[in-house]
Amino acid sequence: MSNTADNITIERKHSHVEICLQGDVAFKSKTTGFEQFEFIHNALPELSLCDIDLSTTFLGRKIGAPLMISSMTGGYSEAATLNQHLAEAAERFKIPLGVGSMRQALENPLYRDSFAITRKFAPSIQIFANIGAPEIAKGLRKSEISIMLELLEADGLIVHLNAAQELFQPEGNTNFRNVLEQLELLTNKITVPVIVKEVGCGISATVARQLLEVGVSVIDVAGAGGISWQKVEEIRYIRQFGQDNRFSLPALDLLLNWGIPTAQCLLDISELKKEHSEFIDIEIIASGGIKSGTDIATSLALGAQLAASARSLLKALYEGTLEKTIDTWLNDLRAVMFLTGAATIEELRNKRLTFKQ
Ligand SMILES: Cc1cc2nc3c(=O)[nH]c(=O)nc-3n(C[C@H](O)[C@H](O)[C@H](O)COP(=O)(O)O)c2cc1C
Repeated sequence: MSNTADNITIERKHSHVEICLQGDVAFKSKTTGFEQFEFIHNALPELSLCDIDLSTTFLGRKIGAPLMISSMTGGYSEAATLNQHLAEAAERFKIPLGVGSMRQALENPLYRDSFAITRKFAPSIQIFANIGAPEIAKGLRKSEISIMLELLEADGLIVHLNAAQELFQPEGNTNFRNVLEQLELLTNKITVPVIVKEVGCGISATVARQLLEVGVSVIDVAGAGGISWQKVEEIRYIRQFGQDNRFSLPALDLLLNWGIPTAQCLLDISELKKEHSEFIDIEIIASGGIKSGTDIATSLALGAQLAASARSLLKALYEGTLEKTIDTWLNDLRAVMFLTGAATIEELRNKRLTFKQ
């Protein structure tokens, strides 16, 4: 990788974190959809609060709670500190962790430590490698897969599909040809599960089906309603090139708010899973705008195996409240379980939701 390309990537990673923390990057006219649902109160829960067990399983392993820290960063020196803190929190709560895109670790060994540090501080949890669709489209070599997996002693590889982000990114790669075909080759040659996620525009049932048919094990919906990555990249674009007329104003408004709400993705993919016995074992991750224990609870009742969060936890990390935030979310989840009469996460998954009046 040339120095210039290296610098662009480091600038991008830095500004992603800075803009996510400070910028106006929320969807303007779209929500996750979680607010439309509520659980039916159970006046006779027949359990004590202290009976409630938050543990569950993910990809066949027991985890402390149905929450994951989503893929975020790595690949520059400050990212090592961020990844260390995320790993420490994940280890404390015994929850899975994803790292950010590992493209730089493949291109330059200098950047590998900022990813590898996660395993040092989280020896007992599931950690997932991460790479983007444009890299997949080019075809990953076996040696590249090994580097990513060995660096983290990874439990799986996450592939992110981020067409809208690339479309808005000043240096974006908009060649998404052959991704599905290459994913099929990947699932055939890799020894760990492949998880496919979006980054905030959601995965439809149609796309989920295509992914499952080529051997993907987990769909992380990363739906709309939380952060709009189009907005993040639009801010970077304006900083670099000023305001211009790439898109007409009505189209810009539509594109910045483009995406399938998280709750809609969950409903549609759960339905697909129910209708097709061959997909019975696949797991669904609810992400995109998760910001509370009640969001986690609603996600599970909508069919998710667990929920995952990125931006809210990153903000908490910067405010020095990461572990407190996770604690609060899990307490809220426990409260919902108590009031619905669910002693276990499995029981919560079977609780009915109603549409709010
Ligand atoms: C600072 C930051 C960097 C991110 N980098 C990556 C990445 O490298 N790979 C990836 O798959 N997703 C990345 N994401 C996307 C998240 O994993 C997640 O899918 C998305 O932000 C939606 O979740 P949220 O609403 O909880 O933030 C990043 C998110 C943040 C906040």
